[in-house]
Amino acid sequence: MNVFEQQIGERFAAYNVDTVEWTAGMPANSVDFSVYSPPFSSLYIYSDSERDMGNVGSDAEFQEFYRPLVRDLFRVTKPGRLTAIHVKDLVYYSTSSERGDRGLRDFTGDCIRTHVEEGWTYHRRITIQRCPVREMQKTKSDRLLYKNFRTDAARTGGGMAEYLVVFRKWAEGMDETPPVLHSPNEYPLEVWQHYAQPAYFVNDLWNDADETNVLNCGAKSDEERHLCPMPLDLTERMVRQYSNPDEVVYSPFMGIGSEGVVSLRHGRRFIGTELKPAYYRQSVKNLVEAELRGPTSDLLAAVS
Ligand SMILES: C[S@@+](CC[C@H](N)C(=O)[O-])C[C@H]1O[C@@H](n2cnc3c(N)ncnc32)[C@H](O)[C@@H]1O
Repeated sequence: MNVFEQQIGERFAAYNVDTVEWTAGMPANSVDFSVYSPPFSSLYIYSDSERDMGNVGSDAEFQEFYRPLVRDLFRVTKPGRLTAIHVKDLVYYSTSSERGDRGLRDFTGDCIRTHVEEGWTYHRRITIQRCPVREMQKTKSDRLLYKNFRTDAARTGGGMAEYLVVFRKWAEGMDETPPVLHSPNEYPLEVWQHYAQPAYFVNDLWNDADETNVLNCGAKSDEERHLCPMPLDLTERMVRQYSNPDEVVYSPFMGIGSEGVVSLRHGRRFIGTELKPAYYRQSVKNLVEAELRGPTSDLLAAVS
Protein backbone atom coordinates (compact mmCIF):
# COMPACT_ATOMS: atom_id res chain seq x y z
CA MET A 1 0.00 0.00 0.00
CA ASN A 2 1.25 3.53 -0.79
CA VAL A 3 1.26 5.54 2.43
CA PHE A 4 2.94 8.70 1.19
CA GLU A 5 3.23 10.35 4.61
CA GLN A 6 1.85 9.85 8.07
CA GLN A 7 1.75 11.68 11.38
CA ILE A 8 0.84 10.04 14.66
CA GLY A 9 -0.03 12.36 17.54
CA GLU A 10 -1.06 11.53 21.10
CA ARG A 11 -4.71 11.42 20.14
CA PHE A 12 -4.75 11.37 16.35
CA ALA A 13 -3.32 9.48 13.39
CA ALA A 14 -3.32 11.11 9.94
CA TYR A 15 -2.36 9.38 6.70
CA ASN A 16 -1.69 10.72 3.21
CA VAL A 17 -3.09 7.72 1.40
CA ASP A 18 -5.87 6.38 -0.82
CA THR A 19 -8.62 5.77 1.70
CA VAL A 20 -10.08 2.79 -0.16
CA GLU A 21 -6.82 0.87 0.24
CA TRP A 22 -6.23 2.10 3.76
CA THR A 23 -9.70 1.34 5.11
CA ALA A 24 -9.51 -2.19 3.64
CA GLY A 25 -6.57 -2.82 5.99
CA MET A 26 -8.18 -1.44 9.17
CA PRO A 27 -9.21 -3.95 11.85
CA ALA A 28 -12.87 -4.99 12.11
CA ASN A 29 -15.00 -3.28 14.78
CA SER A 30 -12.31 -0.68 15.60
CA VAL A 31 -14.14 2.60 14.87
CA ASP A 32 -16.77 4.12 17.15
CA PHE A 33 -18.12 6.71 14.70
CA SER A 34 -17.26 8.06 11.26
CA VAL A 35 -18.26 11.42 9.84
CA TYR A 36 -17.20 12.97 6.53
CA SER A 37 -18.08 14.60 3.22
CA PRO A 38 -17.24 12.36 0.31
CA PRO A 39 -16.20 14.10 -2.91
CA PHE A 40 -19.52 15.07 -4.52
CA SER A 41 -19.14 12.82 -7.57
CA SER A 42 -17.49 14.97 -10.26
CA LEU A 43 -18.52 18.36 -8.80
CA TYR A 44 -15.00 19.29 -7.71
CA ILE A 45 -11.82 17.62 -8.87
CA TYR A 46 -9.35 17.99 -6.03
CA SER A 47 -6.32 16.51 -7.77
CA ASP A 48 -5.44 14.83 -11.05
CA SER A 49 -4.72 11.51 -9.32
CA GLU A 50 -6.76 8.67 -10.76
CA ARG A 51 -7.36 7.62 -7.17
CA ASP A 52 -9.17 10.91 -6.49
CA MET A 53 -12.80 9.90 -6.21
CA GLY A 54 -13.87 13.25 -7.65
CA ASN A 55 -12.08 12.27 -10.85
CA VAL A 56 -14.89 10.24 -12.37
CA GLY A 57 -16.83 10.34 -15.63
CA SER A 58 -20.27 9.66 -14.24
CA ASP A 59 -22.27 9.27 -11.04
CA ALA A 60 -22.43 5.51 -11.64
CA GLU A 61 -18.64 5.39 -11.80
CA PHE A 62 -18.43 7.36 -8.55
CA GLN A 63 -20.62 4.81 -6.75
CA GLU A 64 -18.51 1.98 -8.18
CA PHE A 65 -15.36 3.48 -6.55
CA TYR A 66 -17.19 4.45 -3.36
CA ARG A 67 -18.87 1.05 -2.78
CA PRO A 68 -15.80 -0.87 -1.47
CA LEU A 69 -15.15 1.94 1.02
CA VAL A 70 -18.77 1.88 2.25
CA ARG A 71 -18.44 -1.90 2.66
CA ASP A 72 -15.21 -1.61 4.65
CA LEU A 73 -16.58 1.20 6.80
CA PHE A 74 -19.36 -1.20 7.78
CA ARG A 75 -16.79 -3.85 8.69
CA VAL A 76 -14.58 -1.49 10.75
CA THR A 77 -17.46 0.16 12.65
CA LYS A 78 -18.44 -1.32 16.00
CA PRO A 79 -21.80 -3.11 15.95
CA GLY A 80 -24.63 -0.73 16.82
CA ARG A 81 -22.62 2.39 15.98
CA LEU A 82 -23.01 4.86 13.13
CA THR A 83 -21.57 6.68 10.16
CA ALA A 84 -22.71 10.16 9.03
CA ILE A 85 -22.15 11.54 5.54
CA HIS A 86 -22.54 15.12 4.33
CA VAL A 87 -24.00 15.12 0.80
CA LYS A 88 -26.28 17.03 -1.57
CA ASP A 89 -28.13 16.55 -4.82
CA LEU A 90 -26.33 17.82 -7.91
CA VAL A 91 -27.42 19.66 -11.03
CA TYR A 92 -26.80 18.68 -14.64
CA TYR A 93 -26.80 20.96 -17.67
CA SER A 94 -28.07 20.65 -21.23
CA THR A 95 -24.50 20.51 -22.54
CA SER A 96 -23.93 17.21 -20.72
CA SER A 97 -27.36 15.71 -21.33
CA GLU A 98 -28.21 13.49 -24.31
CA ARG A 99 -31.77 14.84 -24.31
CA GLY A 100 -30.56 18.42 -24.02
CA ASP A 101 -32.53 18.91 -20.79
CA ARG A 102 -31.27 20.16 -17.43
CA GLY A 103 -32.27 19.03 -14.00
CA LEU A 104 -31.16 17.31 -10.81
CA ARG A 105 -29.10 14.17 -10.11
CA ASP A 106 -30.13 12.26 -7.01
CA PHE A 107 -26.61 11.93 -5.60
CA THR A 108 -27.99 11.76 -2.04
CA GLY A 109 -30.28 8.87 -3.01
CA ASP A 110 -27.44 7.08 -4.82
CA CYS A 111 -25.30 7.26 -1.66
CA ILE A 112 -28.18 6.00 0.50
CA ARG A 113 -28.78 3.05 -1.86
CA THR A 114 -25.08 2.12 -1.85
CA HIS A 115 -25.01 2.12 1.96
CA VAL A 116 -28.15 0.02 2.27
CA GLU A 117 -26.88 -2.45 -0.35
CA GLU A 118 -23.65 -2.78 1.64
CA GLY A 119 -25.43 -3.68 4.87
CA TRP A 120 -25.99 -0.34 6.60
CA THR A 121 -29.38 0.56 8.05
CA TYR A 122 -30.67 3.96 6.89
CA HIS A 123 -31.14 5.72 10.23
CA ARG A 124 -31.65 9.48 9.84
CA ARG A 125 -31.55 12.37 7.37
CA ILE A 126 -31.01 15.99 8.47
CA THR A 127 -31.65 18.73 5.96
CA ILE A 128 -29.12 21.56 6.03
CA GLN A 129 -30.86 24.65 4.81
CA ARG A 130 -28.67 27.29 3.25
CA CYS A 131 -29.61 30.77 2.11
CA PRO A 132 -30.76 30.76 -1.58
CA VAL A 133 -29.70 34.40 -2.02
CA ARG A 134 -26.11 33.57 -1.15
CA GLU A 135 -26.30 30.49 -3.37
CA MET A 136 -27.52 32.63 -6.27
CA GLN A 137 -24.69 35.14 -5.70
CA LYS A 138 -22.15 32.32 -5.62
CA THR A 139 -23.40 30.13 -8.48
CA LYS A 140 -25.41 32.54 -10.66
CA SER A 141 -27.59 29.50 -11.27
CA ASP A 142 -30.36 29.90 -13.84
CA ARG A 143 -32.60 28.10 -11.36
CA LEU A 144 -32.34 30.99 -8.88
CA LEU A 145 -32.57 34.12 -11.00
CA TYR A 146 -35.34 36.61 -10.24
CA LYS A 147 -35.31 37.52 -13.94
CA ASN A 148 -36.40 33.97 -14.78
CA PHE A 149 -38.94 33.97 -11.99
CA ARG A 150 -40.57 37.01 -13.61
CA THR A 151 -40.39 35.93 -17.23
CA ASP A 152 -40.36 32.12 -17.40
CA ALA A 153 -40.77 30.63 -13.94
CA ALA A 154 -40.84 27.03 -15.20
CA ARG A 155 -37.08 27.43 -15.58
CA THR A 156 -36.61 28.28 -11.93
CA GLY A 157 -35.97 25.78 -9.20
CA GLY A 158 -35.03 26.84 -5.67
CA GLY A 159 -32.16 26.63 -3.24
CA MET A 160 -30.30 23.33 -3.02
CA ALA A 161 -30.23 21.83 0.46
CA GLU A 162 -27.40 19.73 1.81
CA TYR A 163 -27.99 16.68 3.95
CA LEU A 164 -26.38 14.83 6.81
CA VAL A 165 -27.38 11.22 6.29
CA VAL A 166 -26.78 8.80 9.14
CA PHE A 167 -26.55 5.00 8.89
CA ARG A 168 -26.32 2.40 11.65
CA LYS A 169 -24.47 -0.90 11.75
CA TRP A 170 -27.25 -3.18 12.85
CA ALA A 171 -25.29 -6.37 13.49
CA GLU A 172 -24.55 -9.17 15.89
CA GLY A 173 -22.71 -7.97 19.00
CA MET A 174 -24.62 -4.68 19.30
CA ASP A 175 -25.39 -5.42 22.96
CA GLU A 176 -21.71 -5.65 23.79
CA THR A 177 -20.83 -2.21 22.35
CA PRO A 178 -21.02 0.39 25.14
CA PRO A 179 -23.90 2.89 24.76
CA VAL A 180 -23.23 6.54 23.95
CA LEU A 181 -24.12 8.37 27.16
CA HIS A 182 -25.17 12.01 27.76
CA SER A 183 -25.47 13.25 31.31
CA PRO A 184 -28.38 15.65 31.94
CA ASN A 185 -25.90 18.12 33.49
CA GLU A 186 -23.98 18.46 30.28
CA TYR A 187 -26.91 17.88 27.95
CA PRO A 188 -30.18 19.21 29.40
CA LEU A 189 -33.49 18.45 27.64
CA GLU A 190 -33.35 21.70 25.57
CA VAL A 191 -30.05 20.64 24.03
CA TRP A 192 -31.50 17.31 22.98
CA GLN A 193 -34.60 19.04 21.56
CA HIS A 194 -32.33 21.26 19.51
CA TYR A 195 -30.16 18.36 18.32
CA ALA A 196 -33.24 16.31 17.41
CA GLN A 197 -34.42 18.75 14.75
CA PRO A 198 -34.87 17.25 11.29
CA ALA A 199 -33.42 20.40 9.72
CA TYR A 200 -30.46 22.57 10.67
CA PHE A 201 -30.44 26.15 9.48
CA VAL A 202 -27.22 27.75 8.36
CA ASN A 203 -27.10 31.54 8.78
CA ASP A 204 -30.76 31.82 9.54
CA LEU A 205 -32.81 32.90 12.54
CA TRP A 206 -32.08 29.63 14.31
CA ASN A 207 -28.46 29.84 13.38
CA ASP A 208 -27.67 26.18 14.00
CA ALA A 209 -24.45 26.66 12.14
CA ASP A 210 -22.42 29.64 11.10
CA GLU A 211 -21.46 29.24 7.45
CA THR A 212 -18.23 31.07 8.07
CA ASN A 213 -17.20 28.76 10.92
CA VAL A 214 -14.99 26.50 8.82
CA LEU A 215 -11.30 25.70 9.09
CA ASN A 216 -10.60 27.87 6.03
CA CYS A 217 -10.99 30.97 8.20
CA GLY A 218 -7.70 32.79 8.13
CA ALA A 219 -6.29 30.65 5.30
CA LYS A 220 -3.74 32.64 3.31
CA SER A 221 -3.05 30.33 0.38
CA ASP A 222 -4.79 27.76 -1.80
CA GLU A 223 -2.76 25.10 -0.02
CA GLU A 224 -4.40 25.97 3.29
CA ARG A 225 -7.84 26.60 1.83
CA HIS A 226 -10.21 23.78 0.96
CA LEU A 227 -12.75 23.97 -1.87
CA CYS A 228 -15.45 22.46 0.26
CA PRO A 229 -14.73 22.42 4.01
CA MET A 230 -17.25 20.77 6.31
CA PRO A 231 -19.09 23.28 8.60
CA LEU A 232 -17.60 22.81 12.06
CA ASP A 233 -20.87 23.41 13.94
CA LEU A 234 -22.67 20.59 12.15
CA THR A 235 -19.77 18.18 12.55
CA GLU A 236 -19.68 19.04 16.23
CA ARG A 237 -23.30 18.01 16.72
CA MET A 238 -22.70 14.71 15.01
CA VAL A 239 -19.56 13.90 17.00
CA ARG A 240 -21.20 14.79 20.30
CA GLN A 241 -24.48 13.03 19.66
CA TYR A 242 -22.96 9.80 18.36
CA SER A 243 -19.69 9.19 20.25
CA ASN A 244 -18.37 9.18 23.81
CA PRO A 245 -15.26 11.07 24.94
CA ASP A 246 -12.05 9.10 24.21
CA GLU A 247 -13.70 7.07 21.47
CA VAL A 248 -12.30 6.81 17.94
CA VAL A 249 -13.81 9.02 15.23
CA TYR A 250 -12.75 8.33 11.63
CA SER A 251 -12.88 10.54 8.54
CA PRO A 252 -11.83 8.73 5.36
CA PHE A 253 -11.83 12.05 3.42
CA MET A 254 -10.41 14.43 6.01
CA GLY A 255 -9.46 17.29 3.67
CA ILE A 256 -7.83 19.93 5.88
CA GLY A 257 -8.92 18.12 9.03
CA SER A 258 -12.27 19.66 10.04
CA GLU A 259 -13.75 16.44 11.47
CA GLY A 260 -10.48 15.75 13.29
CA VAL A 261 -10.25 19.20 14.86
CA VAL A 262 -13.83 18.92 16.13
CA SER A 263 -13.16 15.42 17.49
CA LEU A 264 -10.03 16.53 19.37
CA ARG A 265 -11.79 19.65 20.68
CA HIS A 266 -14.37 17.36 22.21
CA GLY A 267 -11.97 14.89 23.76
CA ARG A 268 -12.34 12.15 21.14
CA ARG A 269 -9.48 10.41 19.36
CA PHE A 270 -9.24 10.73 15.59
CA ILE A 271 -8.05 8.83 12.54
CA GLY A 272 -8.09 10.52 9.15
CA THR A 273 -6.98 9.80 5.60
CA GLU A 274 -6.51 12.29 2.75
CA LEU A 275 -5.14 11.76 -0.76
CA LYS A 276 -4.07 15.27 -1.74
CA PRO A 277 -0.65 16.06 -0.18
CA ALA A 278 -1.34 19.81 0.28
CA TYR A 279 -4.60 19.16 2.14
CA TYR A 280 -2.97 16.36 4.15
CA ARG A 281 -0.17 18.69 5.30
CA GLN A 282 -2.66 21.40 6.23
CA SER A 283 -4.73 18.85 8.15
CA VAL A 284 -1.65 17.82 10.14
CA LYS A 285 -1.01 21.48 11.07
CA ASN A 286 -4.63 21.86 12.17
CA LEU A 287 -4.62 18.58 14.12
CA VAL A 288 -1.34 19.33 15.91
CA GLU A 289 -2.68 22.73 16.94
CA ALA A 290 -6.00 21.26 18.14
CA GLU A 291 -4.15 18.61 20.14
CA LEU A 292 -1.95 21.25 21.77
CA ARG A 293 -4.98 23.32 22.74
CA GLY A 294 -6.66 20.29 24.28
CA PRO A 295 -10.38 19.63 24.63
CA THR A 296 -13.05 22.27 25.21
CA SER A 297 -15.40 21.33 28.03
CA ASP A 298 -18.53 19.64 26.67
CA LEU A 299 -20.37 21.37 29.49
CA LEU A 300 -19.59 24.78 27.98
CA ALA A 301 -20.11 23.63 24.42
CA ALA A 302 -23.34 21.72 24.95
CA VAL A 303 -25.56 24.76 24.57
CA SER A 304 -24.17 25.77 21.18
C1 LIG B 1 -15.48 17.04 0.34
S1 LIG B 1 -13.79 16.98 0.59
C2 LIG B 1 -13.62 16.78 2.33
C3 LIG B 1 -13.39 18.07 3.06
C4 LIG B 1 -13.20 17.91 4.57
N1 LIG B 1 -14.41 17.46 5.20
C5 LIG B 1 -12.75 19.22 5.19
O1 LIG B 1 -13.57 19.88 5.87
O2 LIG B 1 -11.62 19.66 4.93
C6 LIG B 1 -13.32 15.42 -0.02
C7 LIG B 1 -11.83 15.11 0.09
O3 LIG B 1 -11.60 13.78 -0.35
C8 LIG B 1 -10.27 13.71 -0.87
N2 LIG B 1 -10.16 12.46 -1.65
C9 LIG B 1 -10.64 12.19 -2.88
N3 LIG B 1 -10.38 10.91 -3.23
C10 LIG B 1 -9.72 10.34 -2.18
C11 LIG B 1 -9.18 9.05 -1.91
N4 LIG B 1 -9.27 8.06 -2.81
N5 LIG B 1 -8.58 8.82 -0.72
C12 LIG B 1 -8.50 9.83 0.22
N6 LIG B 1 -8.97 11.08 0.02
C13 LIG B 1 -9.58 11.34 -1.16
C14 LIG B 1 -10.15 15.01 -1.67
O4 LIG B 1 -8.80 15.39 -1.86
C15 LIG B 1 -10.92 16.00 -0.76
O5 LIG B 1 -10.05 16.70 0.11
